Amino acid sequence: MSEIKCIVLYESIYNNNTLKVAKAISHTLGCRLIKASEAMEEDLTKYETIGLGSGIYFGNLHPSIINIAKNFDNSPQRVFIFSTRGNPIHGKYHGQLKEILNTKGKRIVGEISFKGYDGTGPFLIFGGGNIGRPNERDLSQSISFIRKALPEYCIKDYYKLLDNRLPVIDGSTNKYYYKDGKNLFLLRGDIVSINQNLCTGCGRCKTVCPMGVIELIDKKAIPDKELDCTLCNLCCINCKERAITLHYNWRDTINVAKRHKNRKSL
Ligand SMILES: Cc1cc2nc3c(=O)[nH]c(=O)nc-3n(C[C@H](O)[C@H](O)[C@H](O)COP(=O)(O)O)c2cc1C
Repeated sequence: MSEIKCIVLYESIYNNNTLKVAKAISHTLGCRLIKASEAMEEDLTKYETIGLGSGIYFGNLHPSIINIAKNFDNSPQRVFIFSTRGNPIHGKYHGQLKEILNTKGKRIVGEISFKGYDGTGPFLIFGGGNIGRPNERDLSQSISFIRKALPEYCIKDYYKLLDNRLPVIDGSTNKYYYKDGKNLFLLRGDIVSINQNLCTGCGRCKTVCPMGVIELIDKKAIPDKELDCTLCNLCCINCKERAITLHYNWRDTINVAKRHKNRKSL
């Protein structure tokens, strides 16, 4: 498996609204995230896919995002676009960027825009618009967006590459690591995965987990008893690095109920 050839560039000058989306996306991809204004020195030709995102300021993406695109060469890279905005309607805010990308021969693999808190101008009268946005729902939508647009990079898909993955047994201490370039992922069963590169070992996830699923081993969080996980999401919400991903579909949510049906205590 080759090194992850994907990078996300962002600009988020107002309220870090777009940074939240950028983190959710880049952590799902397990790729680097850097400010566009600091990316001028980067050799972007080595990436096959580039994410570009910012807030919308005066009807357009941030000038450093536009400049990055203007400086692209004509190699056939893939690009995805994301933004946050105050206006309820997205309109043509990505228009100029898309035009530039087209002239540079880039393939746009997807674009998405979310509402973001806006306390500027007339919004002030109401104490600001889009309070609390982007919210958790927006962030999980951004994760779904990127999983769909670029499934080959996403952590969930690494599972498919693991031929010898063993079934998860209650209380099992088996651990499955997957190394992709510089990124080391801990894969454990199908429920909780923790990106070991992003984990700082702060232990917050272990503290907040009501079920004692997570252990700290060698200063890294490990989902040690993931079959006890109730999918409450507290670990994800409290992980500042957004290193934790819960994988589940509707069937798994029912399985949680089944597993805990006869439980008498914590
Ligand atoms: C200087 C400025 C100009 C803005 N212009 C627009 C605009 O033209 N259209 C819009 O929908 N939102 C506009 N907004 C709202 C921002 O797009 C919104 O708050 C966004 O989420 C900010 O992202 P950030 O926190 O990542 O910088 C503007 C905000 C600022 C601070």
